[in-house]
Amino acid sequence: MIKINTDRLVIRDHVEDDLDAMHSLLSDEKAMFYLPDIRTRNLEETKRNLQTAMEEANSDNRTKYFFAILDKDSQEYIGEIGFTKAIDCDYGNVMNLGYFIKENYWGKGIVTQACKAIINYAFHNLHTIKIETGCITDNIGSEKVMKKLGMIKEAEFKNMFYYIKNYTIALNIEC
Ligand SMILES: CC(C)(COP(=O)(O)OP(=O)(O)OC[C@H]1O[C@@H](n2cnc3c(N)ncnc32)[C@H](O)[C@@H]1OP(=O)(O)O)[C@@H](O)C(=O)NCCC(=O)NCCS
Repeated sequence: MIKINTDRLVIRDHVEDDLDAMHSLLSDEKAMFYLPDIRTRNLEETKRNLQTAMEEANSDNRTKYFFAILDKDSQEYIGEIGFTKAIDCDYGNVMNLGYFIKENYWGKGIVTQACKAIINYAFHNLHTIKIETGCITDNIGSEKVMKKLGMIKEAEFKNMFYYIKNYTIALNIEC
């Protein structure tokens, strides 16, 4: 099991007991507003996500690294962070980073701290040569995290399509 400690956080592979806390976050419309493709509609969907995360953690050919973020002192579940292997070539891996946490923890520097820890882990332990991520232009908090991490903006995509409920909405997405 991967387990990374920071000053305030524990970032670790998932366990079965994460289900309820994970479901309350993954099914939360506000927290998942910019991530409608990940939002779950019922406990079964969350269970499948958790199962995938745990299977990947035990895989010899791991491509997904989805971690729970916990408060180090209280051990309370805060949210999710991780990356997927987007490109695997002779030079190394390109990882795609993602994160979302419970609303009562927003604006406390948690995701910035968690990202720094897992980026450091990826570069030192997973033969990583590049970390990528992106967000919708409106997602000011997420873009701020990227800037605080020192990420470089490479492109701005126009008229990307996003699916919210049954509607298809064209939005700009930065990365
Ligand atoms: C975006 C998100 C990941 C930021 O995490 P965080 O732990 O609050 O981020 P940090 O506190 O490390 O830093 C983010 C900065 O953005 C600000 N911020 C956080 N959430 C914000 C929000 N919803 N709206 C505006 N600003 C926000 C913080 O105050 C902080 O500002 P500062 O640098 O001036 O202090 C978190 O708000 C979240 O989980 N949002 C819902 C899911 C989501 O959008 N995920 C990203 C998809 S690309």
